Amino acid sequence: MSLRYAVFGQPIAHSLSPRIHALFGARLGIALDYRAIEAGRGEFADRVEAFAHEGGRGANVTLPLKEDALALCADLSERARRAGSVNTLIREGQRWRGDSTDGIGLLRDLRERRACDPHDLRVLLLGAGGAARAAAFALADAGVRELVIANRTLKRAEALALAIGDKAHVGVRAWDALASARSFDLVVNATAAGHANAAFEVPPALLATQTLCYDLSYGKAAAAFLEAARKSGATRLGDGLGMLVEQAAESFFLWHGARPDTAPVYAELRAAAAAPATDR
Ligand code: ATR
Repeated sequence: MSLRYAVFGQPIAHSLSPRIHALFGARLGIALDYRAIEAGRGEFADRVEAFAHEGGRGANVTLPLKEDALALCADLSERARRAGSVNTLIREGQRWRGDSTDGIGLLRDLRERRACDPHDLRVLLLGAGGAARAAAFALADAGVRELVIANRTLKRAEALALAIGDKAHVGVRAWDALASARSFDLVVNATAAGHANAAFEVPPALLATQTLCYDLSYGKAAAAFLEAARKSGATRLGDGLGMLVEQAAESFFLWHGARPDTAPVYAELRAAAAAPATDR
């Protein structure tokens, strides 16, 4: 019998996770049944419970459920506790253990696919919500020289900086004062602005010749930031498709104890993303 896994979220129909996990499983000879389950915040706990009763062994959790997932867990990894969110549920007996693989996914994509080791870099993080939080802790762990957090609501940036503490030389910057900031080596967009189709500006002052501008999202959601960065002169641009594959690989490892090769899976998804859309 196939082992049962799922991704929960809303909306979830276009999630690439079922495809990614099917490809990982096929390559490693692990039979698994991984499907997308639509659930809003009010119904999430019941759906997960039902999934567990049907033999669910593990699940990914995406927007808007990552904080709700944390509340379901009887046990949490250190990185999930710090990030304040759970994107991976692991069934242990009658309980769920929660983990967060987004941060390690970001670091692996930066290092292995973007030729960007954040160690000793000056990094600007845009946003202070759930996605930014996981990224901020991972970047701090990677030993950045400086981490500046800018958010539309300054108080949230200050709270995140406080939670990280001073080990990464963390600072905050008001959203309106970005145009007068100096340049960074890496600018990471972790805001939800692209999901909301909001206009985005990347002040040229933030960019040096080699600055990598990276969006945690991919596809349409990453377009506004990456296009604005390009217009302001950035030549190194990256979306979060590789991060998606890397966080999935880490979840896969937590469930199956085997590490999938991410390169061919990433190449396949990238090729599909570049092809003309037929069903969207
Ligand atoms: P997620 O889990 O995707 O991070 P979230 O926790 O709701 O979602 O956080 C959304 C982030 O995107 C926040 O940093 C938010 O800024 P505020 O804290 O000021 O709300 C940011 N954001 C959303 N829409 C934005 C916009 N149009 N311009 C700039 N930042 C935006």
